[in-house]
Amino acid sequence: MDLHLALPRGRRGVRHGLEHELRIAIQERRLLEGARLPSTRALADQLGISRGVVVDAYSQLCAEGYLTARVGAGTVVARAVDLQPTRQLRETKLPLRYDFRPGVPDLSAFPRRAWARAISDALTSVPDARLGYGDPQGALELRAALASYLGRTRGAVASSDRILVVGGLGQGLNLLWPVLGARGIERIGVERPGWYDHRTSVSAAGLSPVDVTVDTEGMRTDQLGSLRSVVVTPAHQFPTGAVLAATRRAQLVNWAKGADGFIVEDDYDAQYRFDGKPVGAVQGLVPEHTVHGGTVSKLLAPALRLGWLLLPENLVEPLTLRKRQLDRGVPLLEQLALARLIETGGLDRHLRRTRRVYARRRQLLLEGLARQLPELPVEGAAAGLHIFLPLPDQVRVGELTDRAAAAGIAIRGIQRGRAGLALGFANLPDAAFAPAISTLRDVLRAALRESGA
Ligand SMILES: Cc1ncc(COP(=O)(O)O)c(C=O)c1O
Repeated sequence: MDLHLALPRGRRGVRHGLEHELRIAIQERRLLEGARLPSTRALADQLGISRGVVVDAYSQLCAEGYLTARVGAGTVVARAVDLQPTRQLRETKLPLRYDFRPGVPDLSAFPRRAWARAISDALTSVPDARLGYGDPQGALELRAALASYLGRTRGAVASSDRILVVGGLGQGLNLLWPVLGARGIERIGVERPGWYDHRTSVSAAGLSPVDVTVDTEGMRTDQLGSLRSVVVTPAHQFPTGAVLAATRRAQLVNWAKGADGFIVEDDYDAQYRFDGKPVGAVQGLVPEHTVHGGTVSKLLAPALRLGWLLLPENLVEPLTLRKRQLDRGVPLLEQLALARLIETGGLDRHLRRTRRVYARRRQLLLEGLARQLPELPVEGAAAGLHIFLPLPDQVRVGELTDRAAAAGIAIRGIQRGRAGLALGFANLPDAAFAPAISTLRDVLRAALRESGA
């Protein structure tokens, strides 16, 4: 029960200083509700003050309601006094009954047992020597497992020395932009419409996002012009669900070679294809001009915070250096567990199982929408974990999402580039689809009426 307290010994005395510090620690939520404080004797020893001072300070704070003294349980932090509710608390209070926001797989399907076994295996087999600082590029076992997995399932040209393990693909992109910037690449093409974080991560790195239009064949690769880098979701475009057409893939590849540039391939949910085999990764066509990024966020769970970049040779060193500077690498046990899950076939088994569930839920959503909202046809390939529902441009999507939230439905609206909704279907139980779609229909019809569409 070590307590981090800097005790000011000012004019008003030690007792006042101690009370003040404890009060602040509770108000700033450094000490949370229920946290046990050290005994008065221990804290007095720790701070080098008399025990009576601590006793007095504790009883003052008990009187103010910050602390509670319980016989046998010592002194604990009582309750959040005068605290602003944190953002998270506010969010969890929203009465959301149905959550269509894209971005998560079925969280109830997380393979807990297989993961627990993999973590336990990693923990019991890892030698002591490896519990020091590891390779910031990532554990070799995981890089090797990923290289073989990406070659096998995505047609990528991969080897362990070209892989950087990252804390999610989002982090990978944040690491990448400054490295490209240092090479004089200051403008990055982003899909429009596209994933919000592509654009904001480029801006946050001090580079300029440049819109590249998306249509039903994916990114308009004829618009790449003088750009030297572009981030693209070729397997299943976010949000439109388009698959990059073969002619566009060829054009993209030729552009990258000609511009001596980099295709940043965001392969975030490419493992899901419900009507046949997924198209291979663009990386397999031009490995020296592609940064290929993937994540377990859509395969297992976002909470794992594990992703990877498969890099051209000349980017491995600068990116590994940045990763080292940032956080010295991803936690080792999780890396070893993921390596095991891949090597033992556990990930394949999990995906085989969940693909069936997602195919069914996608069907429930499509059939429900076709029945309830025939005037709004959906778009996109039979792939990934969301569908795109285009809306007339007059609809104010922000208002629509607020209204849906008030009706208990969380949706992700897209306005920039193309009005519509990206509806994730993976994390909604089967039985929720019918009532959720009826509520969505009412909200949408009202919005359409109001906009005059
Ligand atoms: C298009 C796209 N790319 C990448 C990601 C990144 O995932 P993460 O940072 O969780 O690995 C997401 C997550 O929602 C996404 O929608």
